[in-house]
Amino acid sequence: MEVLFNCKLSRLMGGATLKSLTCKCVLLFVAVLILRALLLPSSPGFGGVEWSNIVYIKNHSPSFGSGVRQDKFLEVPQIVWGLNNQKIAFARACLTARMLNRTLLMPSLSASLFYKEIDLLRPISFDKVFQFDKFNALCGGFVQLGRYSNLLNLTQVLEMQKGSGRRWTVERDLDQLRQHSKGSFDDHEVIRIVGKNPFLWHDHWPVMDYAKVFECLVLIDEIGQEADRVVSRIREVGINNTESVELENDINRPSIQSLPYVAVHMRVEIDWMIHCKKLEQRLNTNQICSSKEEIMERVGNIIDSKTPIVVYLAVADQLLKNSSILEGWGEGFLPFEKKKLGVEGIYSKYPYLIQSAIDYEVCLRADIFVGNSFSTFSSLIVLERTQKIIRMGANSMCGIDVRWPSYAYNINGESNGPMRWVTNMSDSSLHSISYGTNHISC
Ligand SMILES: *[C@@H]1O[C@H](CO)[C@@H](O)[C@H](O)[C@H]1NC(C)=O
Ligand SMILES: *[C@@H]1O[C@H](CO)[C@@H](O)[C@H](O)[C@H]1NC(C)=O
Ligand SMILES: *[C@@H]1O[C@H](CO)[C@@H](O)[C@H](O)[C@H]1NC(C)=O
Ligand SMILES: *[C@@H]1O[C@H](CO)[C@@H](O)[C@H](O)[C@H]1NC(C)=O
Repeated sequence: MEVLFNCKLSRLMGGATLKSLTCKCVLLFVAVLILRALLLPSSPGFGGVEWSNIVYIKNHSPSFGSGVRQDKFLEVPQIVWGLNNQKIAFARACLTARMLNRTLLMPSLSASLFYKEIDLLRPISFDKVFQFDKFNALCGGFVQLGRYSNLLNLTQVLEMQKGSGRRWTVERDLDQLRQHSKGSFDDHEVIRIVGKNPFLWHDHWPVMDYAKVFECLVLIDEIGQEADRVVSRIREVGINNTESVELENDINRPSIQSLPYVAVHMRVEIDWMIHCKKLEQRLNTNQICSSKEEIMERVGNIIDSKTPIVVYLAVADQLLKNSSILEGWGEGFLPFEKKKLGVEGIYSKYPYLIQSAIDYEVCLRADIFVGNSFSTFSSLIVLERTQKIIRMGANSMCGIDVRWPSYAYNINGESNGPMRWVTNMSDSSLHSISYGTNHISC
């Protein structure tokens, strides 16, 4: 992993020549992000129908004004790295386009996880992962995606070089955007941003704006159905095991739709442990790394009922080879990962990005989600689950009876359980979601 800390990475960041100190800092951040992305694994889920209905009921038009222009476009570089980084980068590109009052030309995502070998990045069109029309149907008026076939005059492209490095401050970045939304700059049909990946651009938008964009990202049917299959499989093992334990002949036996499960995004791989120990040292805290035992104990303290419950372990593939993560769970917990569930075959058909998208969906739908508040993957899931709770009209986000609660296992909560976790939707930037935090609401 040392290579991540090498300044050669600066090539990726637009060829900026960074002085070695700055370089170290910036690259440390980058490395953290990449590490997370690399080590990010799979996750669990539940409850399809209800979820879809709630998520897609929305009424955007009144608050979105008269929308963005559909005859002016913004083009951005290929979006790279892990699923989480790609989602954030995509949203940032959308919000940049909105600020310039332009339609975003549908960008390429990256199917694979190479970050250095640029030729191995395997571009994959956005609409091979997410529904293009659905995106515009849900988000249109706020942000808009366009196709290259909508362009009239390719000679009118203006290149806009994003700055980078220490001297490229948030203010300079903002000035550049303001400047490019006026006068002769604005006359160009297309503004093409050249330079680094949008994930590394400065952030100028509140969490709510990102959340609006994330909500419009709906997986294409084929991938959505794969997520459904994994979720059904999790419920099935729940039903089978529950029957054999104590609910036999019980007329109140839960239906397959209501049988709950917990998803735990468990980060205990050796690479993560090395990384998070360093991070703990640097941030002077002991609330980032949790051992397998600590995670099991805290998760065990969430639920005091005797009802058996399936625990879906969202773990890095390398951990699937070691059955010890399935051992040591308390009575009433039925731990599974994708190998024990028998769903590895569903994943193996797809490249990295899609595997990760299936995992994400499965985690999103879990009745209870437990993750690490220093993981971007966990943080994005909690953001979307928080949105879901808000849509349900819950009075208290943190009450005991809130459906779809989330927790951070790296922070000690009540009764030695994990800390309840909701996203602060009034936050003015995405920083704590991108880089992790132990100030979680609740
Ligand atoms: C974009 O420009 C149109 C037409 O000038 C205007 O009506 C609309 O409010 C602008 N939208 C944004 C998001 O600035
Ligand atoms: C495209 O734009 C260029 C530069 O403004 C102009 O000279 C040219 O006539 C345009 N072509 C078309 C087909 O509109
Ligand atoms: C499996 O993990 C346990 C502890 O988590 C470790 O002691 C053991 O060596 C690992 N086994 C293999 C084969 O990696
Ligand atoms: C949420 O964020 C806002 C804006 O940054 C801040 O004022 C508020 O205290 C935060 N709320 C919590 C519960 O952390």
